[in-house]
Amino acid sequence: MSESTNIVWHESTVTKEERANLNHHKSAVLWFTGLSGSGKSTLSVALEKELHAIGVHTYRLDGDNVRHGLNKNLGFSPEDRTENIRRIGEVANLMVDAGLLTLTAFISPYREDRDKVRELLDKDEFLEIYVKCSLEACEDRDPKGLYKKARAGEIKSFTGIDAPYEEPDNPELIVDTENQSLEESVQVIVKYLKEKGYIS
Ligand code: ADX
Repeated sequence: MSESTNIVWHESTVTKEERANLNHHKSAVLWFTGLSGSGKSTLSVALEKELHAIGVHTYRLDGDNVRHGLNKNLGFSPEDRTENIRRIGEVANLMVDAGLLTLTAFISPYREDRDKVRELLDKDEFLEIYVKCSLEACEDRDPKGLYKKARAGEIKSFTGIDAPYEEPDNPELIVDTENQSLEESVQVIVKYLKEKGYIS
């Protein structure tokens, strides 16, 4: 629900289709979801580099980065996580409108929040990519030392420990970072984008 009244949508004369023609590729959101330490950020960084190299216009939104600015007033309560994802969804929607292949790397633990972003976008513009990795392996990697802190009780409501993660029901893609190399995962996604005609 909007708090503002008397606001009127103003259409651009440059359409999304025209931007796609100019760019020679479609725009969409590649929505990476998974536990902390599953490899979302690493994968999105590597994929973006690869896409950029083949002339695709991209932009990447990342949990830790966005929480430094746009969402610095949000914590990790269920309500704040929902608001975090809602805002990211709106920003990603604008980026898709601007013609970018947008990569987002957020835990986004709630199915309902991810589904709302899917609804916000046009059909085929939301590609949910489940970055699959067991809690044990994520905890073993512990790249930021946060699982250790969570186990010690120094961080409360940590996803996978004392806060939930809801796996996607029907993601467009699953990348298994426990059994696949980074390069393999990147190639699986590039292949998918080519096969579905997002990029050529
Ligand atoms: S989300 O749940 O709202 O989607 P988001 O992806 O923005 O989370 O941020 C997750 C990152 O914040 C983690 O990778 C980790 O570095 C950090 N973090 C700090 N506290 C927590 C916590 N309680 N649960 C999960 N991640 C946390």
